[in-house]
Amino acid sequence: MLAEVISWLVTPCRLDHRRLGYLGAAISLWARGSRCRATWQPHEAKAHAAILAAADDLTQRRTCVVLGSGLLRDVPLKDLASRFESVLLVDVVHLWPARLRALRFKNVRLLELDLTGSTDFLLNRATGFADPLIRLRQDTSIDLVVSATCLTQLPLGPEAVIARRGRPTHWPADAGRRIVQAHLDGICRLPGRICLITDTEVITRNRAGEVTEREDLLEGLSLPPPDRTWQWTVAPFGEYAPDEELVHPVHAYLDFRRRH
Ligand SMILES: C[S@@+](CC[C@H](N)C(=O)[O-])C[C@H]1O[C@@H](n2cnc3c(N)ncnc32)[C@H](O)[C@@H]1O
Repeated sequence: MLAEVISWLVTPCRLDHRRLGYLGAAISLWARGSRCRATWQPHEAKAHAAILAAADDLTQRRTCVVLGSGLLRDVPLKDLASRFESVLLVDVVHLWPARLRALRFKNVRLLELDLTGSTDFLLNRATGFADPLIRLRQDTSIDLVVSATCLTQLPLGPEAVIARRGRPTHWPADAGRRIVQAHLDGICRLPGRICLITDTEVITRNRAGEVTEREDLLEGLSLPPPDRTWQWTVAPFGEYAPDEELVHPVHAYLDFRRRH
């Protein structure tokens, strides 16, 4: 708890992003990741392997951009930093554990960016979504873009803001779906190869292994067949409920543009 309060105080994070709850959400995720370290490990190892496989046969390795880099749990930072001339880590919040890891590499930079482009819209300073990737699209040195398990998280921040503060004028009823679709379209318009790693749904299972609930995380959108797939136990028994565990199927695409 003390570590969470200190994080809140010392993390560099724009006031807008603090006001919209992104810092608080990142700190909660950090705490959950620490509690669930052992059950998350197989997912993280598979994500690392998929990202490195996507990088393996590139003819050039100049810049690698990681979207949703967060705490760098499912991102093999050391391997990417040694393979690429430069690595750009993009997230709405980078907590100190990720900042300290990034500081070890001279060729790793951080960018604080709201990948939904909804910050001004939610704060009633705009009447539509911004294009968050516009600056990156100009960077012709990008050889690999990794979307690192952030796609289904993107609608959650705005949904939480609307639940707390109400719906801004002109906010569309299908905003979640638009945000997910815009990320998929947006990454495909970036230079370089696109490696997409995303969870797709939440499966709730009881101790007998029976599925008691399924919830789509892709806002009704469907994805092409993945190159690799695995299950991520996001909440083992006792984390979310004593007799239920939450499992997220994960899809990995090593070259998403070719599939999209
Ligand atoms: C499941 S975590 C991904 C974890 C990360 N890849 C890692 O290895 O630790 C989802 C990430 O999406 C980020 N995120 C959520 N909403 C975002 C937004 N609007 N813009 C940018 N990043 C966002 C969160 O901060 C978090 O780091």
